[in-house]
Amino acid sequence: MGRVSIKNVSRIFKKENKSGTEALQNVSFDVEDGEFVCLLGPSGCGKTTLLRIIAGLETQTSGDITLNGVSITGPDPKRGMVFQQYSLFPWRTVIDNVTFGLEMQGIDKAESRRSVEKYIELVGLKQFKNSYPYELSGGMQQRAAIARALANEPEVLLMDEPFGALDAQTRNILQDELLRIWEQRHVTFIFVTHSVDEAVVLSDRIVVMTARPGKIKEIVEVDLPRPRSRTSPEVNRLRDRVLKLLQEERFKR
Ligand SMILES: Nc1ncnc2c1ncn2[C@@H]1O[C@H](COP(=O)(O)OP(=O)(O)OP(=O)(O)O)[C@@H](O)[C@H]1O
Ligand SMILES: [Mg+2]
Repeated sequence: MGRVSIKNVSRIFKKENKSGTEALQNVSFDVEDGEFVCLLGPSGCGKTTLLRIIAGLETQTSGDITLNGVSITGPDPKRGMVFQQYSLFPWRTVIDNVTFGLEMQGIDKAESRRSVEKYIELVGLKQFKNSYPYELSGGMQQRAAIARALANEPEVLLMDEPFGALDAQTRNILQDELLRIWEQRHVTFIFVTHSVDEAVVLSDRIVVMTARPGKIKEIVEVDLPRPRSRTSPEVNRLRDRVLKLLQEERFKR
């Protein structure tokens, strides 16, 4: 179960003798168990900050975030994170990267290796499980990072522009794969992207944020059956609507 509730979250980054940066202002929204939510907003509006607070890697200045009713106070394997930059350990093979979280929990190496096989297979890296990150393409490295996050059996997966550095074609393939994984495993997704197309193809709802300080501008429902065509009239209509919301924010700065 992975229900996330964000209530009046603000974050100000203070600098000595200076007024500081207000990154987030009174952000509130809920993400239902098993929901796929995308966060979209101008650069610097606090998306990464919000994700890091949900992950427990950063703290809010005020407000509260709960997972299944319990306040978040620090990192927990129940909340997995996948970053934009490839974040695998270069000295570990794919399988040893994927087992990392389990080893940290004290599970022995042989058992960890056995239990992660299914995740490596799920992301299509079976043939490369003994390869090092430098032997993989960018898309394959992100697949390995997704397998590593899934191996902890998280209730919530937090993804910060995980496909941002990939070419358009690889990106489309990984989006389809991610949806397949989401349908097979019961995980709540909070996914940050700059791509309106990506948000419309992936999400149940799109949380559009304002320019800094980041507030909720609008929450757009994407009530379309999956798999979605990337070019249907309904998808185009939604894309136009979200683009318009983002454009309004561009001229505010
Ligand atoms: N550790 C920090 N110390 C000081 N300021 C910070 C810190 N982290 C973020 N900020 C500031 O908070 C604001 C929001 O940053 P954040 O990285 O969350 O934005 P973002 O929406 O993820 O942007 P982008 O789309 O470019 O990734 C920015 O003005 C940034 O300078
Ligand atoms: Mg960011």
